[in-house]
Amino acid sequence: MPEVSTVEHSANDELRARGVASVLITEEEIQNEIRAMARELDAEYGEDVPLLVGVLTGAVSFMADLMKAMTIPLVVDFMAVSSYGAATQSSGVVRILKDLNNDIEGRRVIIVEDIVDSGLTLQYLLDVLGRRGPKDIRVVAMLKKEKPGAIPVQVDRIGFTIPDDFVIGYGLDYAGQYRNLPYVAILDPSVYQTSE
Ligand code: IMP
Repeated sequence: MPEVSTVEHSANDELRARGVASVLITEEEIQNEIRAMARELDAEYGEDVPLLVGVLTGAVSFMADLMKAMTIPLVVDFMAVSSYGAATQSSGVVRILKDLNNDIEGRRVIIVEDIVDSGLTLQYLLDVLGRRGPKDIRVVAMLKKEKPGAIPVQVDRIGFTIPDDFVIGYGLDYAGQYRNLPYVAILDPSVYQTSE
C-alpha cells in the first residue's frame, strides 16, 4: 500500500479550496491507485459482470473514476445511508435513505466506499446486502482511517490508510461542501470552530 504524503497547500487561489489546511493525498496519487485497483478488479471479475454498489454521496468521485478505469462489462448502482450530517462525529445510527435499483441475488457485488471510519456503515451494508443472496461481496474503499476502537469489518482493498483526522475532498464533505476537490485534504479547524 502506498505511503500517504503530506503536501503543503500553499498559495491556493481556488475558491473551492478555501478552508483547506493541507493536501493529504494528491490527485495524481489517487488516480495512480485507482488505475492499479481497476487492473486488479478487471483480472478478478473478467466476464462475471460485477454490480458496483456506490455509497452516496461520498463515493461519487471514486465510483466515477473507478468504473471508467475498469475495462470489463459491469453494472453500477447506488445506495444512500444516513451519515454524519454537519458534525464531525458519527451519530452511530445507520439507516437506508435510498435502496438499490437492482436485485443482487446470485450476483457478484463490489461495494465501493469513500472512507471506512468507525466501520459502522460498512458493517450495516454488508449485513443488509449479505441477506439478499449475492454470489459474493467484496469491498473496495478509497480511504481507511487508523481509528482505535473501529469495528473490524471486511475491507478487501484499501486505497490509502490515513490518520484518524477529519478529511475532506474527493467526494468527502464538511457540511455538504468540498466534495468537488480532486484531492483529499485536511480541513482548517477554524472552519468548524466558527460554524458550530
Ligand atoms: P463510518 O464511521 O465508517 O460508518 O463512516 C461513515 C461515513 O462517514 C463515510 O462513508 C463518510 O461519508 C463519513 N465520514 C467518515 N469520516 C469522514 C471524514 O473524515 N470526512 C468526511 N466524511 C467522513
